[in-house]
Amino acid sequence: MNNLILNADIERGIIDRHVYGHFAEHLGRCIYGGFWVGEDSPIPNVRGIRIDVVEALKSMGIPNLRWPGGCFADEYHWMDGIGPREKRPTMINTHWGGVTENNHFGTHEFMDLCDQLDCEPYICGNVGSGSVQEMQQWVEYITSDAISPMTDLRRANGREAPWPLKFWGVGNENWACGGNMRPEYYADEFRRYQTYVRNFGSNEISKIACGPCRDDYEWTRVMMERTHGFMTDLHLMKGLALHYYTDYRKSATEFAESDWFAVMKGALYMDELITRHSAIMDQHDPGGEVGLVVDEWGTWYNAEPGTNPRFLFQQNSLRDALVAALHLHIFNAHNDRVRMANIAQTINVLQSVILTDEEKMILTPTYHVFEMFRVHQDAKRLSVELKVADYSLEDQVIPGVSASASRDPEGQIHLTLCHTNPNNPVDLVCELRGLKASSVSGRILTADTMTAHNTFDEPDRVNPVNFTGTELEGGALTVTLPAMSVVVLELA
Ligand code: AHR
Repeated sequence: MNNLILNADIERGIIDRHVYGHFAEHLGRCIYGGFWVGEDSPIPNVRGIRIDVVEALKSMGIPNLRWPGGCFADEYHWMDGIGPREKRPTMINTHWGGVTENNHFGTHEFMDLCDQLDCEPYICGNVGSGSVQEMQQWVEYITSDAISPMTDLRRANGREAPWPLKFWGVGNENWACGGNMRPEYYADEFRRYQTYVRNFGSNEISKIACGPCRDDYEWTRVMMERTHGFMTDLHLMKGLALHYYTDYRKSATEFAESDWFAVMKGALYMDELITRHSAIMDQHDPGGEVGLVVDEWGTWYNAEPGTNPRFLFQQNSLRDALVAALHLHIFNAHNDRVRMANIAQTINVLQSVILTDEEKMILTPTYHVFEMFRVHQDAKRLSVELKVADYSLEDQVIPGVSASASRDPEGQIHLTLCHTNPNNPVDLVCELRGLKASSVSGRILTADTMTAHNTFDEPDRVNPVNFTGTELEGGALTVTLPAMSVVVLELA
């Protein structure tokens, strides 16, 4: 018997909407061609930003956008991206394919994009090859209302009022592309740089430090010990960024069940990583002041054949939809420590929610999971207990079903389910405690093959549809989950 208990009377805190965040780097066709086409483009745009993309991301409920990188961030000099576009210097994107960029998408364009998306900007500053002064001036340029050379410059560039800005990253992957630093060295650099990331007027910035690469627990320990808590009496960061990719350098769309299984297992490893990094953070920060910010996650396959391998353009199948659902469930379950997360990357790079080809745009299966799961954003997490058959392949096992439930501010209860087994359906008997449900409705995302994906010729191959696999009798709910599926239910 497969059982789920939903305890509607046991609340476990708020699921921060920012764990449903996104990431846009100057990499391949994410910014140029993805978000930005320029004002003179025949592709419909508002001030150079694609209308179709903005509409799709708004419908999905994008809460924040991280920019400009990634590895690009530690090579980016923001002053090259302001002022009249025709006068901006070009730059070589050395990290991502050595292409020349014209800097037409800079600070003003990014802030405009976030305004159009109605989402919070999250900017990552340059520690690796930048200076403290450069970072200090960038923050002042964006957020200060005082009279100063930086704010005069902003006004001269057409923006009178400062922009509100909540999230600031102090470098990216400073253990690798961001300067190859040791944790002890970066901890000191973080202490220095963050000093000059100032709060102007009423603007309050949450400073996010570069955190560990996957299971580098030593990095977390050093950062916590040297920049936060009782050992130092310092409270300098609001977030520590963890990066972990489900790295599986094979085809995104041609694979067997063993590949499906390996990718599910790789995604589930996120739970162990968060648990162990959180345990270290708990020692230094028992009050949970510092959030774990998983600001890069997602699948990383081989680039699509025939594309520039440094552009990291990959297709996105039903398998990616399940990877997204598993991650979002894990983040929800760790809502006491995980305050923000950003899937990499929004458009045309790695596990994207959108793919574009000139004027054409399609939504990926991953997009649909984010849209289905948006009901959890800023909702109260509810306790869920699961006893379900594992999914096993040869001598390996992973959980067959993962789940998450929440109550939104209007009092609606939502239950999301992810069934990893690609071979058989499962009947899930759900006990609803503390809740008298009289109706249930929902949507499902699945397909007839595990490699199913959307293309420009067949954009709706993997698309959510109404879900009819529920039975509600005498307050007991039975859900028949088809093989390899993601479901969202609303209980009323
Ligand atoms: O998302 C692609 C790259 O992966 C980012 O630039 C970097 O931070 C990470 O290694």
